[in-house]
Amino acid sequence: MLSRRQALLGAGAGLIGTLAAHNAKATVRADRRVPYGACVNIKPLQDEPEYRGALETYCQQVTPEYGLYWDYLRPTRDAFNFDYGDAVLAFAEANEMLMRGHTLVWYAAMPEWTKQISSAAEAERELATHIQRVVSRYRGKIKTWHVVNEPIEEPKGKVAGLRPSLWLHYLGDRYIDTAFRLAHEADPSAELIINDYDIECVGENFAARRRALATLVRDLRDRGVPLHGVGLQGHIQGKYQIDVAGVSDFVAEMKSLGLSVHVTELDVIDEDLPAPIPLRDAMVAARAHDFLEAVFAATRPAALATWGITDRYTWMPMWFKRRDGLPNRPLPFDRDYQPKPLWTVIDYFCRKD
Ligand code: XIL
Repeated sequence: MLSRRQALLGAGAGLIGTLAAHNAKATVRADRRVPYGACVNIKPLQDEPEYRGALETYCQQVTPEYGLYWDYLRPTRDAFNFDYGDAVLAFAEANEMLMRGHTLVWYAAMPEWTKQISSAAEAERELATHIQRVVSRYRGKIKTWHVVNEPIEEPKGKVAGLRPSLWLHYLGDRYIDTAFRLAHEADPSAELIINDYDIECVGENFAARRRALATLVRDLRDRGVPLHGVGLQGHIQGKYQIDVAGVSDFVAEMKSLGLSVHVTELDVIDEDLPAPIPLRDAMVAARAHDFLEAVFAATRPAALATWGITDRYTWMPMWFKRRDGLPNRPLPFDRDYQPKPLWTVIDYFCRKD
């Protein structure tokens, strides 16, 4: 049996041949391009021309990184702070990009005051106020909303249910129906998607999460909930292989339900990958390649976004800091905005017919 290290090395070494073969076949058709996007951090957007330049050069879409979280939007119950969302929208509009909405309902990034919510009626009232206010502000502008983010809990053995949250606690599992219906009322033309992570690798944990997400999606569709698509976050755990068949089958099932499929937050967690940069970058690219190949085998996604554009600004060290102290390299461009092999992979798939 291959050791983990040998398997990882194999993934990196095979990449170069695979990419060369792919590039020879790739045909460029601008009208058929899968839109590429990245999440946007407001500080460098305002302070760093190079950061703005990279977004302008490469992105057709942008997602505010944290400006539409509850805790940013609503520091107090009554105040709404739209400055971040508005700034990213202005940037998007000035550059003919679309802005995606992330996110209306999430268990995390909740402001302190929401701990005071103490009844189902109050929870429903706040949810409705929030969704109506935020979605209508961007009606016709944000064309895709990540309505419910990360609804699936960490599996217990082979089974995963819904993740505990304020919403599940007070409203039960129908909180998801309610959120989608409210968003649809506030902007009937918006595409509404559900978004989750850890569905792409080999292992029981990932299989359980895929099954749970597919079951949830089927139930929502059966109940006539206005759900239009599914977002695969794609925070790929670089130490594991991609479950190519598992991902393809999952995406094919979503497609057969009439849903669009989006890659919403791609990056590769390089916490446990070897230190040398050329090797690490090749392995990161190889993982993303395998994941995207599995997705594209079943459908062309509606969009492909990474969670950041440059290794200079990534959430990764918050959760997945390397033990050797080296900076993480999860994204398509390095700290100096030079393209990495991951960019070759993304660009290849976005152009692919
Ligand atoms: C990260 C962000 O990049 C940070 O700014 C935030 O404070 C914490 O989380 N899944 C998601 C994203 O849907 O919103 C998360 O973003 C990464 C995991």
